[in-house]
Amino acid sequence: MEKKTWREELFSFLTGDGDFHSGQELSERLGVSRNAVWKEVNLLREAGFEIESVTNRGYRLLKMPDLMTAPLLERQLPERDRALLHVFEELDSTNTKALQLALAEAPSGTVVLADRQTRGSGRLGRSFASPAGVGIYLSYLIRPEPGAKGLSLLTSYAGLAVSEELEALGLAPQIKWPNDIIIDKRKVCGILTKLTSDAETATVNGAVIGIGINVAEAREDFPEELRDKAISVREAGVSVPRAELAAGVIRRLDEYFFEKDLLNHPDPAILAELERRSCTIGKRVTVIGTLGSREADAIGLAEDGGLRVRYPDGAEATVSSGEVSVRGLLGYAT
Ligand code: BTN
Repeated sequence: MEKKTWREELFSFLTGDGDFHSGQELSERLGVSRNAVWKEVNLLREAGFEIESVTNRGYRLLKMPDLMTAPLLERQLPERDRALLHVFEELDSTNTKALQLALAEAPSGTVVLADRQTRGSGRLGRSFASPAGVGIYLSYLIRPEPGAKGLSLLTSYAGLAVSEELEALGLAPQIKWPNDIIIDKRKVCGILTKLTSDAETATVNGAVIGIGINVAEAREDFPEELRDKAISVREAGVSVPRAELAAGVIRRLDEYFFEKDLLNHPDPAILAELERRSCTIGKRVTVIGTLGSREADAIGLAEDGGLRVRYPDGAEATVSSGEVSVRGLLGYAT
């Protein structure tokens, strides 16, 4: 293992025990001047660390910023192959990066995360606001075998993973078909899945599941037009470090795809779980298609994850793409 630099050692002292460390003690242990220690402490403060300094006692870390870094994630996921984790300070979009990695033969289970995105993308050509320090922007790559039966359920699996993690934090999320996670009628997470195919064999050879979660925004941090439609985990009442929540979601996706192999063996029990958590099923919805909008009752999920609806004339159909709005959610009027 490479020897730590004195700066890394200083970081370990301050973050290790929550105790005071005097400038004198640190300067002796690290072999640098007290002035160098002081300058480094100030740099950490600028980076968001709250460090108290008390005469005759020294420095003490009060609060760490909510970082999204590879070391933090690796600490949360010790059992996971580090080479599969790509963490960036800034990307245009984690989905774009993951698709590039897919083209470069990156294996199933590759994960891309960014502290911020400059061109986060959402469904239907919309953008996904991705400011630094407050959200999780995560893309998970899998490589389906030809004919994998669970391919159309990827977005649903990701929705379930996020919902289970939020529930474990004491929240009550619901899934708005097909790709939004809702708390208190507002959106806390959006999911966008992209597929890549092999032109020669005309088969899907990669799938990138992009997950965006509002974690730490205060209400006024959202643009005004989103305040009635968006909510963060923190606004819903729970403060959680981003790296911890991201790691939890990754762990669940690993479990679905590698332990349970849901991609090749979809499980009816999971479909039932998805139905139970749905805030769409049982509601009157508007199905927005290319030929116009139609009212219908959402009655369940089809085996492939599509939404089963019944139109007023009694005809039933499965909606597998497009958009569905549910009355009373995300700021939609009655
Ligand atoms: C939506 O709500 O329409 C889907 C939003 C998906 C956003 C995530 S953030 C991580 C990944 N990278 C992107 O550019 N988009 C997805």
